[in-house]
Amino acid sequence: MAVIFDGKSLAESIKRKIMEEAANLPRKPGLAAILVGDDPASRLYVNNKEKDCAACGFFSRRFDLPATVSEEELLGRIDRINANAAIDGILVQLPLPASISERRIVEAIAPEKDVDAFHPLNVGRMVYGESPVWPCTPSGIAAMLDAYQIPIDGKVCVMVGRSDIVGKPMGLLLLQRNGTVIYCHRHTRDLAAMTRQADILIVAAGCPGLITSDMVKADAVVIDVAMNRDPTTGIFTGDVCFDEVKEKAACITPVPGGVGPMTRAMLMRNVLTLAKLHMGLAQP
Ligand code: GUN
Repeated sequence: MAVIFDGKSLAESIKRKIMEEAANLPRKPGLAAILVGDDPASRLYVNNKEKDCAACGFFSRRFDLPATVSEEELLGRIDRINANAAIDGILVQLPLPASISERRIVEAIAPEKDVDAFHPLNVGRMVYGESPVWPCTPSGIAAMLDAYQIPIDGKVCVMVGRSDIVGKPMGLLLLQRNGTVIYCHRHTRDLAAMTRQADILIVAAGCPGLITSDMVKADAVVIDVAMNRDPTTGIFTGDVCFDEVKEKAACITPVPGGVGPMTRAMLMRNVLTLAKLHMGLAQP
C-alpha cells in the first residue's frame, strides 16, 4: 500500500511560511487576476486565488471581463496593470475565449510580472535554468517530491501529457533536476511500455482511468495532475485508477487533495518571489 501524499496539509504549511515572510516585507506582495467570461471552473480557480492572497496577507486585484471583451481592450487593461507598482504578479486565467489570441495576451504581460512563467522570454529562461519562477503545477509537484524526500536525480521520469501549462515545463524541470525524461502524448505508440519504465510517473492527460496498475512499475512514484469532473455525479477523479495503483506504487497523489492545493500554494510563492525581486530584496 502506497504512501498517499497529503498535498492539502503540505500546501497549508507552505502558505503559513509565505504569510510569515510576507509580513516582514516593506509592503504587501500584490497579485492581479484577470478572468474573462463565465466558465464556472475558471471562476472557482480565480476565487480560490483571491482567498489564498487574503490568507497570505497579499494585496489582490481582480478583473472580471465579459467573454465579449475585445483583444485590444484586454491588452489595454494589461498595460495599465503592468504600470501599477502595487502589483507584482499578473495572472490571466486560461483558457481565453477563442476570439482572443492567448499568445498575444501572454506576451503583453511584463515578463517581470509574469507569475505563471508563460511569457516566451521566461520559457526561454526556464530552458536555460534561469527563470526565477516556474509554472505553478510543475513547481508544486517538485515541492511535493522534495517534501517527501523523493530524489529526481538519475530517475526515469515519464510525463504523460505535453501541454504548455503542465507537461512541457514539468519535463524541463525534471531535466533540470537531472531526471531522465520521457514525454508521452496521444501519438505515443505503446503508452504502457513507456509508463512501466517510470520511477516517477506524472500524468496530466485529462483521460479518466487512463493509467491502470499493469502500466505502473512496482514501487513507482505516481503523480496524478488531472481533475476530471464526472458530468453525472459531479465527482472529481484523476487519470490514474487510484484504488488499484495505490496497491502497487510506493507513493501516490490523491485527487482531489494532491497536486491541486500545491499548485495554489506555488502561485503564492511565485508572487512572493516576484515581490522580493521588485523590492530589491532578492537577486534574479
Ligand atoms: N488555467 C489552468 N491552469 C492555469 C494556470 O496555472 N495559470 C493560468 N493563468 N491559467 C490556468
